[in-house]
Amino acid sequence: MARRRLIYEGKAKILYEGPEPDTLIQYFKDDATAFDAQKKAVIEGKGVLNNRLSEHFMTGLNNIGVPTHFIRRINMREQLIRMVEMIPLEVVVRNYAAGSLCKRLGLTEGQQLPRPIIEFYYKDDALHDPMVAEEHIIAFNWASQQDIDDMIALALRVNDFLSGMFLGVGIRLVDFKIEIGRIFEGDFQRLVVADEISPDSCRLWDVETNRKLDKDVFRHDLGSLSEAYTEVAVRLGVMPRNNGKAATGPKLVN
Ligand code: TMP
Ligand code: ASP
Repeated sequence: MARRRLIYEGKAKILYEGPEPDTLIQYFKDDATAFDAQKKAVIEGKGVLNNRLSEHFMTGLNNIGVPTHFIRRINMREQLIRMVEMIPLEVVVRNYAAGSLCKRLGLTEGQQLPRPIIEFYYKDDALHDPMVAEEHIIAFNWASQQDIDDMIALALRVNDFLSGMFLGVGIRLVDFKIEIGRIFEGDFQRLVVADEISPDSCRLWDVETNRKLDKDVFRHDLGSLSEAYTEVAVRLGVMPRNNGKAATGPKLVN
């Protein structure tokens, strides 16, 4: 069997050459990192969960006409994606105050924001992904003004879609990060949602209890990360509730 060509290895995923032109295979690892990889662990099953969850979100986005790089899931840990030219930015959308926004502006965690707030961060681990303004993005040619307008429109559509999907299963989408790539079609370029959408890159709180169901569980040692991600997958119907556990027999339901 021929060895696949490795294209890129990141902290949580590996990209291999795809089977057709302009495709890649995205492999989800079990590795978890936080705080610029100062904190590291292997969380058994995380890659499988994120592969399934990212498939679920990206398929839903494709179905409502929000373009993504996702083509199809191949197996438990791998999906086929379109090769894109990545824009070197993280696009963060916030609905409630949390994380670095609280630190920066002294807001109370959980405070509802007056409107969704979009921020851009320059992807550079050595610089700790600094927040940048549109001025920097245009001056350093990371993206054009038209790209920025398109990225904002894309991010807001993703926010509306994901917020609704999560609220339907009792989860508040506090904030999230997406990455965006370019696809060239003749003389035209199109921006598409790329990378992954998973509890690694969102803040997800239970609506009733505010229990955290995202990577903050790992960042701040709040319990079992795989249990939290499994809860998200089960509520979304991506996984059966009793997967891997002994059956408990029939239960009366009201
Ligand atoms: P922040 O509050 O730490 O700036 O994070 C905002 C959102 O972006 C949160 O949902 C977590 C996500 N995020 C990533 O996906 N990767 C990162 O490297 C960081 C810092 C945040
Ligand atoms: N993903 C980043 C890291 O691995 C930071 C984070 O998500 O907290 O270091």
